[in-house]
Amino acid sequence: MTARVLAGDATGVAEAVALLRAGELVALPTETVYGLAADATQDAAVAAIFAAKGRPQFNPLIAHVADQAAAARLVEMDSLASQLAERFWPGPLTLVLPRRRDCAVSWLAGAGLDTLAVRVPDHPLTLAVLRQLGKPLAAPSANPSGRLSPTTARHVHDGLGERIAAVLDGGPCAVGLESTVVQIVDGVPWLLRPGGLPRAAIEAIVGPLRQAAADAEDSHQPRSPGQLASHYAPRLPLRLHANDPQPDEALLAFGPAVPAGAATVLNLSPRGDTTEAAAHLFDYLRRLDDGPWRAIAVMPIPPTGLGEAIADRLRRAATPTDG
Ligand code: TXA
Ligand code: MG
Repeated sequence: MTARVLAGDATGVAEAVALLRAGELVALPTETVYGLAADATQDAAVAAIFAAKGRPQFNPLIAHVADQAAAARLVEMDSLASQLAERFWPGPLTLVLPRRRDCAVSWLAGAGLDTLAVRVPDHPLTLAVLRQLGKPLAAPSANPSGRLSPTTARHVHDGLGERIAAVLDGGPCAVGLESTVVQIVDGVPWLLRPGGLPRAAIEAIVGPLRQAAADAEDSHQPRSPGQLASHYAPRLPLRLHANDPQPDEALLAFGPAVPAGAATVLNLSPRGDTTEAAAHLFDYLRRLDDGPWRAIAVMPIPPTGLGEAIADRLRRAATPTDG
């Protein structure tokens, strides 16, 4: 597969929408950098983003929406969030807010967290795609993991051309730097990532932004950007590399050969595909975390494809105190 370059016109937009609806990956222009987009409500499409980027970890992704009303269907917008959205959307500001119970975004897109990052990008082509699709788009920067964020369609094509369906050519990005990320915790705004919207512009509206300090003692406060996106941790203990499930355990299985003996079983991928397994990971963990069993036994996952990222996240979930 070599990515098609879609023209930045009505035909290109319609083609991008059709591909996204079919669960394909399409790189889209925003005012900050190009994003690698998938329908945020399709688990498999979101898993394909991580596979294409080659990320060894599931970082939570931003859900891009057409307007504030669409954001309010996904997250709880408090008055501070509404003020910021009113003033800066569309634009290079991402807000991290509590996920609504009925939020339609894939758990994988949010890395299993109870919060979700949302933003309205300021680019006419991508806004047109969002309006026609009528769904949120999960989109990290459209570069292979560890490489620079792309600001032209050519950059995207050079880096990911063999791994995605298409790139919609919207010309060079006006800002050229990722969005500023602000998390609102109990009505207090925290700066998680400096970016394309200057801090002073935000502070003019909401007052001083708290800065997550690496060494804050108070466990009720966010400690660092990494820890703020604190990992989803199940309530029940996880037992990894388990091939001998016990009667008082739920089994998170992988592959065609499932050992007997568990109280219940959910299989991440009966055909043994790590991208399919990633698509189900957080959803199945949450489901198994809700039962009367003592623990969740997890079968071994091979380190191929997204297997490494799955193993990384399971390890963290098994030892929740390591942040
Ligand atoms: O300008 C941008 O933000 C671009 C364009 C494509 O929109 N996107 C982008 O996405 O830079 P990404 O995935 O490369 O960066 C998203 C940032 C990461 O630092 C991630 O940790 C943070 O947002 N983030 C996302 N969800 C979060 C959450 N629930 N809690 C804390 N941080 C979150
Ligand atoms: Mg990035």
